[in-house]
Amino acid sequence: MYLTHLECPRCEARYDAGRLWNLCPCGSPLLARYDLDAIRDAVDLARLAARPADLWRYHELLPVADPAHLTTLGEGWTPLLVAPRYGDRIGVPDLLVKDEGQVPTGSFKARGAAVGVSRARELGVRHVAMPTNGNAGAAWATYAARAGIRATIAMPAAAPVVTRQECLAAGADLHVVDGLIGDAGRLVAEAIAGSAGEIFDASTLKEPYRLEGKKTMGFEIVEQLGWQVPDVIIYPTGGGVGLIGIHKAIGELRALGWIGDHSPRLVAVQASGCAPVVRAFARGARRVEPWPAPHTIAFGLTVPAPLGDELILDALYATGGTAVAVDDWELLADLRDFGADEGLLLCPEGAACLSAARRLRTTGWISSGEQVVVLNTGAGLKYPGTVPAGGHIGHPGRTQN
Ligand SMILES: Cc1ncc(COP(=O)(O)O)c(C=O)c1O
Ligand SMILES: [Zn+2]
Repeated sequence: MYLTHLECPRCEARYDAGRLWNLCPCGSPLLARYDLDAIRDAVDLARLAARPADLWRYHELLPVADPAHLTTLGEGWTPLLVAPRYGDRIGVPDLLVKDEGQVPTGSFKARGAAVGVSRARELGVRHVAMPTNGNAGAAWATYAARAGIRATIAMPAAAPVVTRQECLAAGADLHVVDGLIGDAGRLVAEAIAGSAGEIFDASTLKEPYRLEGKKTMGFEIVEQLGWQVPDVIIYPTGGGVGLIGIHKAIGELRALGWIGDHSPRLVAVQASGCAPVVRAFARGARRVEPWPAPHTIAFGLTVPAPLGDELILDALYATGGTAVAVDDWELLADLRDFGADEGLLLCPEGAACLSAARRLRTTGWISSGEQVVVLNTGAGLKYPGTVPAGGHIGHPGRTQN
């Protein structure tokens, strides 16, 4: 294993990666660091193509030492789909959609769960707990079950119903709260405080390895483009872990010399009913202010005060990126247009990214020749309410409306 230590990006303190950590005492999330020089010597890029088609193909850049601890359902290496008809509709002919709906548990959260649970298992954790907007809880409950680890999951009552069912099917201890993700977080904090050190806090960015799983989206995009970066990557930002992860991945590939210095411009997309990052970006701020009374159909984006705000905003500023808020009606229209044009039913969070692409093309921020990658972070099938269930009713030959 090439993991060397954990590092605080805010105060630069270093921590022993062989022990369990949550936040740095300064309040910042911790980042995993690797011996990149040794990885450069050890890995022959030309032979990487022959490796298995899952995220463990990048195992040198992942934090699991013993393969016996790998907890997998075959996650990763999702397709980067061309979208020529919808791309022409919005004036972005070189539009690509990375379809994370094809990951186990139907969302990209399985990447974070696979790596986070594997590392927790390796470090001797027997019980994890976390608040969630649904998909992360479903993924962690599923991978925890596979690892033989207990899971306590708390989620808002308004989270997608199927994610509750996934938690229960995986035998998790599920708590449904009448509130938002912050309220679920308070419930989890109480459970952990009362557990005498038995329960490990696996909340977003409070444990450092979920990010490592999510960064593999960045590795895959670059490898699938022949070790080239696209001009723009558009990501639906709630807690922002995927965006921070993609930024970290690009930085690691650059440090390894596997790509050049050019970075894609990263775009954080939020819903206009919960857009703390967009507001902070517009002000040039380093931190967000909590968004009051958040509400959006793109439920994964209902994070009024993301813990990783500094890291999200850093990624946007450092890459010449931007942040865009879209309305629910707008993302639903793009979800339906995209389905009719390309045949893929998007999740609402993914559809929001297409609304943002369309908007950024209209304003000229994206030019027509640019290559744009959009993350569809989950399977549309998990959100059946986003499209009508009508259709013609009747018998063959006797169709009525
Ligand atoms: C489908 C989907 N997309 C995007 C997000 C936001 O993810 P992140 O925390 O990486 O910003 C979520 C979070 O729940 C989600 O479920
Ligand atoms: Zn610190």
